[in-house]
Order: sequence, then structure tokens, then C-alpha cells
Amino acid sequence: MGRETWGTRIGFILAAVGSAVGLGNIWRFPFQVGQEGGAAFMVMYLAFVLLIGFPAMLAEFVVGRKTGLNAVGAIREFAGGVWQYLGGLFVLIGFVILSYYSVIGGWVLRYVVGSATGGYVGDAAQGEPPVAAQFFAEIASGWDALLFHAIFMLLVVGIVAFGIQRGIEIGVKVMVPAIFVIFGVLSVYAFSLPGAGEAYAYYLSPNFEYIVANWQSLVPAAAGQGFFTLSLGMGVMITYASYLGSDENLAIDGTSIVVLNTSVSVLTGLIVFPILFTAGLDPETSGPGALFISVADALGSLPFGRVVGTLFFATVAIAALSSAISLIEVVVSYAIDEFGMDRARATVIVGAGIFLLGVPVTVDTVFVDLYDMLAAQILLVLGGILLMVAITWLHADEAVEELREGIGDLGAVGTLWIWMVRIPVVAVLIVSLYLGVTGYL
Ligand code: PFF
Ligand code: NA
Repeated sequence: MGRETWGTRIGFILAAVGSAVGLGNIWRFPFQVGQEGGAAFMVMYLAFVLLIGFPAMLAEFVVGRKTGLNAVGAIREFAGGVWQYLGGLFVLIGFVILSYYSVIGGWVLRYVVGSATGGYVGDAAQGEPPVAAQFFAEIASGWDALLFHAIFMLLVVGIVAFGIQRGIEIGVKVMVPAIFVIFGVLSVYAFSLPGAGEAYAYYLSPNFEYIVANWQSLVPAAAGQGFFTLSLGMGVMITYASYLGSDENLAIDGTSIVVLNTSVSVLTGLIVFPILFTAGLDPETSGPGALFISVADALGSLPFGRVVGTLFFATVAIAALSSAISLIEVVVSYAIDEFGMDRARATVIVGAGIFLLGVPVTVDTVFVDLYDMLAAQILLVLGGILLMVAITWLHADEAVEELREGIGDLGAVGTLWIWMVRIPVVAVLIVSLYLGVTGYL
């Protein structure tokens, strides 16, 4: 039987968008902005996405499409030698990220239920204060967190065990438009709040002195967020591109993915910050709860808040699931290819392991920060550096030739791409990794 391919050209873009758009945009992005000084982080983050994330994404696409293999096999075939162990790092990263990603996904599912039943809505008519902060504190750790982490992983395992492609294509076709509609409505609501002006200044007007003074934490944070949000550094984009035909224009596909993903993040900030400022909550200290507390509070005071809230968190849940699927798929495809397991068995075993690794995160939310920093600022950046070196230092000609397929004559652009990744991208990533490691310790 021939290897599977995407059903339609748009299928690949949708799947890649499904992987990219997720909790990284909706949950992680706002609290990174909050912890790293607002608009200063935005500047650094946008620079990373365009100048480092985009070229790095093309590199992953090239390896995937050229080899037509899972991430581990693709690296072994493309780079060979000791580089084959890079695939092992990808698998490890998939394990770590999904283990806590699933716990956050569980919070989202809990909020779907909480929205429908009004769990976080204070009775404004009785003069009660909003209760989202208290609700979040109750469900973020303990039995609720464990139960919904289990439910989230069961959903992931269920979908992946039965074959992902139709599930992803349908899920994403619903999710992406839904995000833009619901988030659009909420951002208009947020715009009407008294704290909006202050929030926009904080979020959108950068203070360059702050950047100069704080670059040592801004750089690793932006690198981590850039890789995390674009699903780079662990072979997801290699795996997805391996199902592509050679007529695809990888540059156009990459551009679409980057633009859509960035729009979702920017839109999320336009919702979360006006709400936080209006409620008098400090974005810097709100941390991983920022989304869950701010949006839930806002929904509690909206007409039809429960309905909108249910739709909002259900959409976020789909976004999280379509990313989680790409994370587990890297590990599952490896288990299938290397250990000859069948898909269902591999998925169940891998899913159980990931579930267990996530259990500590359900006990205490400090583990969210610990796992998250380790994964995003260290492991993904490390994976990215090694991958970029393997591709552009050792196999540049093959890479350019593969990029050309489906585009035609690249002129100097191919050479520019290679040289840009070879020196500046790799150098900036090494600095980011160094700062990330020293910041973590
Ligand atoms: N890009 C996803 C998000 O922003 O939620 C998360 C993610 C998926 C990170 C896949 C890394 C990855 F390989
Ligand atoms: Na993302």
C-alpha cells in the first residue's frame, strides 16, 4: 500500500495550521506577554517568528517532503550518522510537551462544562464579585485537573488511534473560522471596556529602553514562544510535510501558516489585556491563569455569557486537540516504524506514558512553569539548532533543490535562505538557548 497523502492541497495547510494554532496562542502567548513586559515582548516575538520561525519552518518542510518519512526516519535518511539521534530528542520533546499540554487542555474542557453550568459566573444581580479566579484555583489542580487531563488524553488517543487525517481536516475547517468569529466578537466587546486604552498602550506600544535593559530574558522567551507557537523544533512539520506531493509551493504554505497563527495570537491579546486591565488584574502576576481568569470574568458579565463561553472554550478545546494530535503523532509514527507496533496499540501505550508524565502537573501548578520552560525555552530551541545545522551546514544543496520543487527558479532566494539560517539564525538560537538554560537554573 502506498503511503498516505493529504486528501487535498488545502488539507496539508489546514493540518499544519491545526498544529500551530492552539494553547500556545490562546493560553501561553498572553501570559508570556504579561511576564515579559507587554509590547516589548511583542516586538521581539514578531521578529523571531518572521526572521527565525519562518525560515526554520521551510527547513522542516524540505526534510519532510524530500524523505517522505516520519520525523525520526526523515532525519536518519536526510542527515545520517550521529544525527539520527536527533530523532530521539524529538520523541522526548513530544512526550514532555504533551504531558502538560494535556493538563491545560483539561482545564479548557473543565471550562466548557463550567460555562454551560455557570460555574464561574458570580451573581452580578446580587452584587457578587466575579468568581473566575476562585473557580480557576479550584479546578487547576487536584482531582478535577486529573480527571480532565485523563479525558483530554483519551480524546487524543481516540482520534489518533482511528487515523488522523479526516479528523484533523474536518476539525480544522470548523475551528479556524470559529476562532475568528468568536474571538472577533470578544475583541469588540473588550474594545468597549474602560481599561481598553491602557491595555492597548501596554500591549502594542513598545518601550525600547525596556527591550535594551531586558534582552536577556526577552530573547529566550521570544525564541521559546516562536518555536512553540509554530510547532517547530520537534519534527511536527517534518512529519506533516512528509505527506505532501512535490507540486506544493512550500513558501506560500509556510507564509499562510505563519500569518494565520500570528493573527490568532494578536487577536487573543486584544481580548485578554483589556479585560485584565479593566478588572484591575496585573498581567505580570496573572501567569498561567491569565486566560482562564480574564476571559471567564468577562463572559460572566456578558449577555448570553454562558452560551458564548461554552462556544469559546469548545473552540479552544478543538484548537488544543488539533495541536495535541500533531504532538503525539511524532511519537506514534516513530513507535510504529521502529518497533513495528500497530497504530492503535502504539497510540494507547504512548498515550498512557504521556498521561503519567502529566500527573505531577495536576498536583501542583508550579510544574506547569517548570515543564513549560524546560520544553519551550530549552528543548525546542535545542532541537531547532541541531536541525538547522544538519540541514543548512551539511545538506544545503539538497535542501535548496527540494525547496525549488513546486516553486520554480528561486534565483538568489535559495542561497539567501540557506545563509540566513546557517549563520544568523543558528547564532541567535544558540544565544537564546544559553540564556534560556542559565535562566532556568
Ligand atoms: N503550536 C502549538 C500551540 O501553539 O499550541 C503547540 C505545539 C504543537 C508545540 C506541536 C510544539 C509542537 F511540536
Ligand atoms: Na501556535
